[in-house]
Amino acid sequence: MSADIFASQPGDEDLLAEIYDLEHDGVVEDLPFWREQARLRGGRVLDLGCGSGRLFPSLLEGGATRLVGIDASAALLRRAEARIAGDPALAAAAADGRLTLLGGDVRALATLNVRERFDLAVAVGVVPHLDGPEDALRLLGGVRSLLARRGRLVLDDLGPAAMPLRDLPLSIDWRRELHGREVVRRSELLRRESPEGLRVAFSTIADAVQPDGTIARLPASHKLWYPSPEALAALVVQAGMVVELSYGSHDLEPLGRESGRRIVVVRYEPAASTSQEERVG
Ligand SMILES: C[S@@+](CC[C@H](N)C(=O)[O-])C[C@H]1O[C@@H](n2cnc3c(N)ncnc32)[C@H](O)[C@@H]1O
Repeated sequence: MSADIFASQPGDEDLLAEIYDLEHDGVVEDLPFWREQARLRGGRVLDLGCGSGRLFPSLLEGGATRLVGIDASAALLRRAEARIAGDPALAAAAADGRLTLLGGDVRALATLNVRERFDLAVAVGVVPHLDGPEDALRLLGGVRSLLARRGRLVLDDLGPAAMPLRDLPLSIDWRRELHGREVVRRSELLRRESPEGLRVAFSTIADAVQPDGTIARLPASHKLWYPSPEALAALVVQAGMVVELSYGSHDLEPLGRESGRRIVVVRYEPAASTSQEERVG
C-alpha cells in the first residue's frame, strides 16, 4: 500500500492536502496535551506522520530542543514548509537546525538514516493508515531503535466510543470556505470486523468551487485499520516494548469503552541482563 495518502488519489494532491488542513487545522483540543508531553519528556522529539506540522508549535513551545517531522505525503510536507515559513518561531527553529522535515515512510524508518535518538516519539492518527499488524510491527520496530534511553512513544488515535458501529451512507460532513469559496465534503464509510481489529473503507468527495465558478470534484479513498486493544498490546510486546500508560482523553481520563481517544504511552521493556536502555541513548 502506498505510504503517500494523496499521491495515489485521482485528484490534485495539493488541493486535497489544502482541504485536509481545512479540516484538521481546526483540531486544537489536543494541543495542550502535546505541549505538556514535550515539557515532561522533552528534549528531542520525533513527530511520525507529522502531516503539515499541526503539532510543531505546541511541541516547540513545550520545550522540544530538537524536532524532526516525518511524513510520506509530499503535498502535506509542502504545506508543512509553508507553515514553517509563515510562523516566526518555527522559521527560527528551522533556521538554527532545531526543526527538520523528512519525507519518508514510517514503516521503513531505518532507510531514512536518522542518526539521532529521541526522548519522545509521537504518532497521532498514523496507525489507522497502516495496513495491519505487519506494518505496525515495522513502525514499532523502527521507532524502538530511534528512542533514547528512557524515551517514550505516544500513539494517539480514535478511542472505542469513536469507532463507527455501522456503515455510514454517503452524506455531507461539512461545508467550509477556502479562499472565500465554498468547499463541500461528503463521505461514506464501510466497516468490517476482523481478528486484528476494525477495518474501515473511508471514501470522501470534496467539491471545491474554483475561481471561474466551476467545481473541482476530488474523490479520495482510504483504507483504515483500528487495531483491537489486544492486537495493539501484543504488537507492542512483539516489538520489544511495553505499554506503560494509557489514557482515554487528552485530559488523561482512564481508557474505557466510553473513551473518545486511545492514547498509549510505550517504552522499552529492558532485556533481563543487558538492558536495551544501556545500549542506546
Ligand atoms: C490523520 S493524519 C495526522 C497528521 C498529524 N499527525 C496531526 O495530528 O495533525 C495522518 C498522517 O500520517 C501520514 N502517514 C500515513 N501513513 C504514513 C506512512 N506509512 N509513512 C509516513 N507517513 C504516513 C499521512 O500522510 C498523514 O499526514
